[in-house]
Order: sequence, then C-alpha cells, then structure tokens
Amino acid sequence: MDGRTAMNSALTAAGITGRTRVYGILADPIYHVKAPEVMGALFAHHGVDGVLVPLHVKADGLAVVMDGLRHLRNFGGFIATVPHKTAMTDLCDALTREAEQIGAVNCVRREADGRMVGTMLDGIGFVEALRASGLEPRDRSAALAGAGGAASAIAFALAEAGVARLTILNRTADRARALVERLRTAYPTLPVAAEGAQAEHDLLVNGTSLGMRPQDASPFDLSALHGGQFVAEAIMDPETTPLLAAASAAGCRIQKGLPMLERQIALMARHMGAL
Ligand SMILES: NC(=O)c1ccc[n+]([C@@H]2O[C@H](COP(=O)([O-])OP(=O)(O)OC[C@H]3O[C@@H](n4cnc5c(N)ncnc54)[C@H](OP(=O)(O)O)[C@@H]3O)[C@@H](O)[C@H]2O)c1
Repeated sequence: MDGRTAMNSALTAAGITGRTRVYGILADPIYHVKAPEVMGALFAHHGVDGVLVPLHVKADGLAVVMDGLRHLRNFGGFIATVPHKTAMTDLCDALTREAEQIGAVNCVRREADGRMVGTMLDGIGFVEALRASGLEPRDRSAALAGAGGAASAIAFALAEAGVARLTILNRTADRARALVERLRTAYPTLPVAAEGAQAEHDLLVNGTSLGMRPQDASPFDLSALHGGQFVAEAIMDPETTPLLAAASAAGCRIQKGLPMLERQIALMARHMGAL
C-alpha cells in the first residue's frame, strides 16, 4: 500500500467524509484529554456523522481562534477545558443560566450564524452521575471540599437539585465564603455555610484536586468517615483516590470521578446540537 492509499483507508476507517460535522476540544496542554475517544464512541453509538478533534490553543490565542471558528460553517461547537473555562464567559455571545451563575463555560455551541452560546455542564453531569449511582441528592446534607471551578459547578448543581443543607470547605477560606455568598444570592432559602462538622453530613464530595498525587493531603478527615455516608469524587486519575479507598473501607457508598465526565459527554453532544 502506498502512502496516499494508506491515508485514504485510514480516513475511511474513521468514517470522515465531506459531510462530516466537526467539533473540538480546546485546551492547553491537550495531550491528556479524553473527550475525543469518549465523544467518538457516543457518536458511533448514535450513528452521528461527526468527529471531535483536539485543538491545542494557548490563552493568548483564544480570542483569535474563537473568531476563526465563527466562520467555520461545518463546525458545531467545542468543549472548553483548562485553562479556558473562565475566559470563555467573555468570548461567548450568550450564556446559559448555569454558565452565568458559575462564571465559567465548558461547552460552546456554534449557531448557524456563527454566534457562540456557552454553557457549564460539570455540575449537572455530577448530579446526573449521583442519581445514576442510586443517590438522590434532594434533602441530603452535603459537605463539599473545594471552591474552584469544578467545586463551584457542583455546589450550584447540588443547590438546584434540592439538597437540604450545603457546607463548603476550602483551603482558601475567602474563596469558600465568596462561593457561599453567591449560593445565598441564587438560593436564599438554602442553609449554606463555609464551615461545619464533616460527620454531620450524609453526602461528602471532593471537588478539589487533592488526591491526584500520592503525596496529597486528604480533602476530608478519613478517620471520621462512617458507613451512613455517600462519598463522591471529581478526580478521575487515579480512578480510586485515597479518599474513595478509605470510604469503601469505612462501609460508605462511593462514586468515582469518571461517571461525572461520561454523563457530561451526552449533555455536551446535546448542547452542540449533535444529538
Ligand atoms: N470528573 C469530571 O468530569 C471533572 C470535571 C472538572 C474537573 N474535574 C477535576 O476536579 C478537580 C478540580 O479541578 P478544578 O478545575 O476545579 O481546579 P481549580 O479551579 O484549580 O480548583 C482547585 C481546588 O482544589 C483546591 N486545592 C488545590 N491544591 C490544594 C492543596 N494543596 N491543599 C488544599 N486544597 C487544594 C483549591 O483550593 P484553593 O481555593 O485554596 O486554591 C481549589 O478549591 C481536578 O482534579 C479536575 O481534574 C473533574
């Protein structure tokens, strides 16, 4: 097989033709993203003639790339991830309520006229994954570690899902208090605090990056975990963090980080008009 024939059969194998709709994921760095494979499997499952490609864009080139994508007529939209989620709020033409509340965007739809509509699906994906694991967050008392991008999205989604009480625990106390204030404004009747005893909550969520590296401290006191609690992670790598291992050993039900992404992928495909 010569080079051109090999390339043609590779393209045919990937199912890409002149009619294929193009989607992207924008990140810096890009090598670690999982969305092309996961979205590719979803497209194949639903018979969608689309492909999602990795697009390595640095922060200083983001506005120029956005303008270029507005003119790409077979482009359906993109996933935005680190470090672009916050900057994207200013670059989109319209935002959903979730993106406005949270102040970040992780998925953008390109309308037929080139307008870009941003949404934030981290938190909704997390709550959908909880429900799929058999835990309905409504009326639960939840403690959330973290006040960064993922944690903020999870906090708003838990509030929207009707938790009875929400405690935000974060290393930088000012950031936790700022998140609490934003939650109070959006959900005035929800009891929400920036401190509280972990043992009094029946749902514990790690929305920090603590647990990605072996030397990390724990986001919760592992010795205070008890069997009546449900413990959920945002971290995907490692699959079983020290928190999840300790929670399992203490008899807690657990949820890993990957289902949060898997649930989001379908929501993202829908937002971009692919499903
Ligand atoms: N499963 C999914 O679909 C999904 C989606 C999005 C993100 N994630 C994961 O969620 C995690 C957080 O991501 P992010 O985008 O929210 O990051 P981020 O905005 O940078 O926030 C990081 C959070 O971790 C805390 N933190 C970091 N290092 C710490 C340390 N040494 N001690 C105490 N607290 C520390 C930060 O506290 P300070 O405020 O004090 O700095 C902050 O609350 C990452 O592991 C990411 O991969 C998963």
